[in-house]
Amino acid sequence: MATAINGDRNQSEQILALGRQNNQQESAIEVRNLTKRFGAFTAVDSVSFDVPRGSIYGFLGPNGAGKTTTLGVMLGLIPATSGTARILGHDIRTHLPEALQRTGAMVEKPALYPYLSGRDNLRLWAYLAGIDNLERVESSLAEVDLLQRADAKFGSYSTGMKQRLGIATALLRDPDLVILDEPTNGLDPAGQREIRALIRRLAKSGRTVILSSHLLYEVQEICTDVAIINNGRLIAQGRMEDVLHSGDSLELRIDRPEDAGPFLEQLPDVTKVELVDDLVVVRTDADNAGLINRKLIEAGFEVTELRPRQRRLEDQFLTLTGTDRGTGGAHDTA
Ligand SMILES: Nc1ncnc2c1ncn2[C@@H]1O[C@H](COP(=O)(O)OP(=O)(O)O)[C@@H](O)[C@H]1O
Ligand SMILES: [Mg+2]
Repeated sequence: MATAINGDRNQSEQILALGRQNNQQESAIEVRNLTKRFGAFTAVDSVSFDVPRGSIYGFLGPNGAGKTTTLGVMLGLIPATSGTARILGHDIRTHLPEALQRTGAMVEKPALYPYLSGRDNLRLWAYLAGIDNLERVESSLAEVDLLQRADAKFGSYSTGMKQRLGIATALLRDPDLVILDEPTNGLDPAGQREIRALIRRLAKSGRTVILSSHLLYEVQEICTDVAIINNGRLIAQGRMEDVLHSGDSLELRIDRPEDAGPFLEQLPDVTKVELVDDLVVVRTDADNAGLINRKLIEAGFEVTELRPRQRRLEDQFLTLTGTDRGTGGAHDTA
């Protein structure tokens, strides 16, 4: 019986997910030339990006990069200096209530009372938000996996559970778009894992999720798309695999690596050749693999291995954000 109910629920969730995807083709969020100045200080500098429907979108950047400010502007909490955002098709400058109608957000920590139960906190939250459908309280509790602890006092929750109840406040309206600002901040690894699992579930039910983070591995692990922001400027954005692979290199095992270096360097579109251990690393577009292989063989080299060398997003993040400025540059000239 229980499995039958579960089965039905899964099926209806899938249909719901399909419906959400089908009737909404355009981007969930379009941000255009968004700028926010605080006095003379530019916190967000002409930022533009698109969040595809159904994506788990990572907004990645070090502390102070401008993530919270950008999300705050998108939610109408902070007025933009210039530029705008469209959320679910509605321009926030002219149609903020419509833009936020199908949007749930947790940007600031919601005020939750330690002496009230999780359920009562959520009911109070729903009441204050004008949501009179108490079913939404129950389904939000279910979605963040807190039904079983719903009657325990909020104060007795672990930090991970507290954060999940916070996220439940963002789910009360059954939103199509969920915006979470650093949802794993301050959590231990177990709590972080719980939140990541929850975010995956939200996406599975057809919601678009945008989350900010200063943690690379987290974004790398769960996000389908990413934008990297630093000092208020967007420095990379796109599908995770594309951002991950940009600046690609090829890794080759060749019989005479010392001779292969100078030969490879004079090939078109090869920007750099390095010897790393006993491998030759060629900085070039990965599409060049075939050409490079042919040229090497024609020149009498024996190529026993040739494969794309994936630069970890981490390297890129560090290079892009300039965190390793100095060491990275030194390597390049070596
Ligand atoms: N109300 C404000 N007044 C002045 N400066 C601010 C204000 N809010 C944020 N900032 C500054 O804007 C920059 C970006 O902040 P924020 O968006 O909170 O970054 P992040 O969320 O990426 O850590 C920081 O340098 C911060 O000090
Ligand atoms: Mg922030």
